[in-house]
Amino acid sequence: MYNGKKSIQWFTILEDMGQGAYGQVKLAQYKPPRHEKIVLKYVTKKRILVDTWIRDRKLGTIPLEIHVLQYLRNYPHRNVVDMLDFFEDEVNYYIEMAPHGIPGMDLFDYIELRTNMEEAECRSIFYQVASAVDHLHKVGIVHRDIKDENIILDGDGNIKLIDFGSAAYLKNGPFTVFVGTIDYAAPEVLRGQSYGGREQDVWAAGILLYTIMYKENPFYDSNEIINAELRIPYRMSAESESLMRRMLNRDVARRPTMEEVLKDPWLKDFDPQIDSNSSSWPSSLEKKHAASLSVDSVDKPNTDTE
Ligand SMILES: Nc1ncnc2c1ncn2[C@@H]1O[C@H](COP(=O)(O)OP(=O)(O)O)[C@@H](O)[C@H]1O
Ligand SMILES: [Mg+2]
Repeated sequence: MYNGKKSIQWFTILEDMGQGAYGQVKLAQYKPPRHEKIVLKYVTKKRILVDTWIRDRKLGTIPLEIHVLQYLRNYPHRNVVDMLDFFEDEVNYYIEMAPHGIPGMDLFDYIELRTNMEEAECRSIFYQVASAVDHLHKVGIVHRDIKDENIILDGDGNIKLIDFGSAAYLKNGPFTVFVGTIDYAAPEVLRGQSYGGREQDVWAAGILLYTIMYKENPFYDSNEIINAELRIPYRMSAESESLMRRMLNRDVARRPTMEEVLKDPWLKDFDPQIDSNSSSWPSSLEKKHAASLSVDSVDKPNTDTE
């Protein structure tokens, strides 16, 4: 079985974990004797856009998503998903990842289930997203699709940023093509201006922060993104509101960098080591969600080494 090239035959498919624009994500298990559970993202070849293939001297012509994930293996970060391996057949590429926490639980689902999140928990989640994005920017990657569906959680308050299907190398910017999700798109992108990438990740993270805090979108359509006054439904804290407003500055030049975001008063004294342990996963929620997925248990991967 393990002679020759890796193929989908090496795995038993256990669960569907989400369906996105370009394919499917499955919880899978290596057939004996290996047994490990892993996550496979199927990337259908015929749906890959022409300009998102990349020629690499060593790897051949592969999707940019896989190229970026392969590049990031040299720069691991505790809040960025790790690709373990990839392989292909006639129809698909397969991205092999370690399962992180409860399968299929992304921040979108978590926000829905967890109606009364305290500010400390919002801050812990957001801090981890911000440090993941800051890391990417420092190693020359822009994500371009930061949103709740692309953030996964484990049971201990740790998060990972996933889905590099819209990511790009900074050096290939500025960009003109719109990618990502309208709700999270920066006003200048919707106006059709060319964009560098980092500033737009900061805007998207600002939308994300609002969504985590208030469980709703700040703007309902692109007109609102371009023009509307920011509605604050109720005050969490003056500090969090001030950070949100800084990140959602329509003046691109005055929007903070991710590094500056991490130094904002709301985040700068935050110690992730201490705080992430204090925000523990509610066990009732864990049971409910695990039952809805009918998965017995997932071996907890040891991927958080840095
Ligand atoms: N490594 C992973 N661990 C757990 N869940 C994952 C993982 N990767 C993806 N998922 C789940 O699958 C969904 C789709 O994956 P994603 O990479 O965002 O694909 P798409 O490009 O189709 O949006 C995610 O929103 C998440 O719920
Ligand atoms: Mg996605």
